[in-house]
Amino acid sequence: MAQIIKVLKGTKDILPQNIELWHFVEKNAKDIFSRYGFKEIRTPIIETTDLFSRGVGDTTDIVNKEMYTFEKSERSITLRPENTAGVVRSYIENGMSRLSAPVKLWYEGPMFRYERPQAGRQRQFHQVGVEMFGIKQPSADAEVILMAEDFLKSIGLDDLSVEINSLGCPKCRTEFKEKLKSVIKPHLNDLCEDCQTRFDKNPLRLLDCKVPECQEIYAKKEIQEVIMSDFLCDECREHYSELKSYLDKMNVKYSENKLLVRGLDYYTRTVFEIKSNNLGSQNAVCGGGRYDNLVEQLGGEPTPAIGFAMGMERLISLLEEKEPQKLDGYIVSNNTQEAFLLAQELRSQGLNIELDLTNKKFTKQLEKASKVANYALILGEDEIVNNQVSIKNLKTGQQFTLNRHECFKNIRHENFQNNK
Ligand code: HAM
Repeated sequence: MAQIIKVLKGTKDILPQNIELWHFVEKNAKDIFSRYGFKEIRTPIIETTDLFSRGVGDTTDIVNKEMYTFEKSERSITLRPENTAGVVRSYIENGMSRLSAPVKLWYEGPMFRYERPQAGRQRQFHQVGVEMFGIKQPSADAEVILMAEDFLKSIGLDDLSVEINSLGCPKCRTEFKEKLKSVIKPHLNDLCEDCQTRFDKNPLRLLDCKVPECQEIYAKKEIQEVIMSDFLCDECREHYSELKSYLDKMNVKYSENKLLVRGLDYYTRTVFEIKSNNLGSQNAVCGGGRYDNLVEQLGGEPTPAIGFAMGMERLISLLEEKEPQKLDGYIVSNNTQEAFLLAQELRSQGLNIELDLTNKKFTKQLEKASKVANYALILGEDEIVNNQVSIKNLKTGQQFTLNRHECFKNIRHENFQNNK
C-alpha cells in the first residue's frame, strides 16, 4: 500500500462535525460587527515580506523567527502572520483616507506563524479581527473593546477577563525604556538568550519573558519600581484615564496589567487582551490596541487607528467544552416518504431537521433522536392518518400531538422558550 500523507505539523483539518461551530462564530462576528458599522474586507494571504518587516517590526519574534517566506520571480513573499499590516496596506492603496472617518473594517481568515505547536497554538490558525481608522479619541478604544466583549457574549463566552495597559507614545516610552534598561543592565549576563537580544532591540518585551530565572530578576525591587512607575506623558495619561472612565460607564470589567506589552511593534497608547481561565498557557483569545503611527510608517497620511484580532481555534475550543449544538428536530417514523415530506416542509421554514433513512426500529430511531436533536417528531400510523405530528421534548420528556401545520410554529416557540 502507498504511504499515507499526513497533515503538516501545526495545521489541522476543520471537519464536518466541527464546521457548525465555525459557522456559528462567523455569523455572530458578521452580525455584531455590522451592528457597530464595520464592513468586511478580504485581503490576500500573500503579501510582500517588506510589509511585515516594516509593519509588524523587525525586532519582533513574528518577523525574526516565525514568518513563512519564499522567493518567487526574485520577489520575497510572505504568508501573512497577522492581518493588521495587510489591512493598513489596503487602506492606503485604495485611498480609504478619503472616506469619512471612522473607516471600520473587519476580516476573518487564515494566518501563518512558524511557532512551536502546542494546545491553542498552531502554525496555520484563523483570526477574526477588526480595524478602525481615523479616530484619535479614546472613545474609539472604548467602542472597540466594548464590541469585542459584545461579540464574545453573543457566542456564549462571558467569563473572560479583559486586561488593559497603556504603552504611551514614542516620546514618553523612549524615556521609560532607557530607565528600564539602566536597572536591568547589571543583570544582563544572567538573562536568557532571547532577553539578551531584546535588551537592545525591544526592551519592553523583556517584561513578558516566561523564563523563571529572568522573572526572578525582573521581580527585584529596583526593577519593579521602574515597571510600576507612571511614565506616561500628560496627553497619554489623559487618554488612558478617559478610556477607563468610558469602560467604567459602560460596565466593562477590566484589570490593569503593567506587564501587558504585546508582541508587535506598532502599538501606541492603549493595548488590551481578553483571556480565558480555561485555555492553559495559550490563554489569550483576543489581543489588540492602538497603532497611531502605522499608516504613516507604511506610506499613508498620518492616521490614528485601533483594532483587535481573536484566535478562532481558541474561541472554538472554549465553545466545544459547552454542550454541542443540536438539531431542532429528528423525525421518527417507519414511513420514510412521509418523513421526507415533513422534513422538507420544516427545512424550508429554516429548521434543522434530520430523519432516519434506513428504516430502523422505532426505539432505535428515538434513541438516535435523543442524542442529536432537541425534539423527536413522531410520525406513526395514527399521526399520518390524522395529518398530525407528536412532538417529544427530549429534555423534559413532555409529549404532545399537534396538527401538522402547527408543528413549525411550536418548535420555533419552544426553542425560543428554551434559549431564553
Ligand atoms: P496577536 O496577539 O498576535 O495580535 O494575535 C491575536 C490573537 O490571535 C491571539 O490573542 C490568539 O487568540 C490568536 N493567535 C495568535 N497566534 C496564534 C497561534 N499561533 N495559534 C492560534 N492562535 C493564535 C495580532 O495578530 C494583531 N494583528 C491584533 C491587532 C489587530 N492589533 C490591532 N489590530
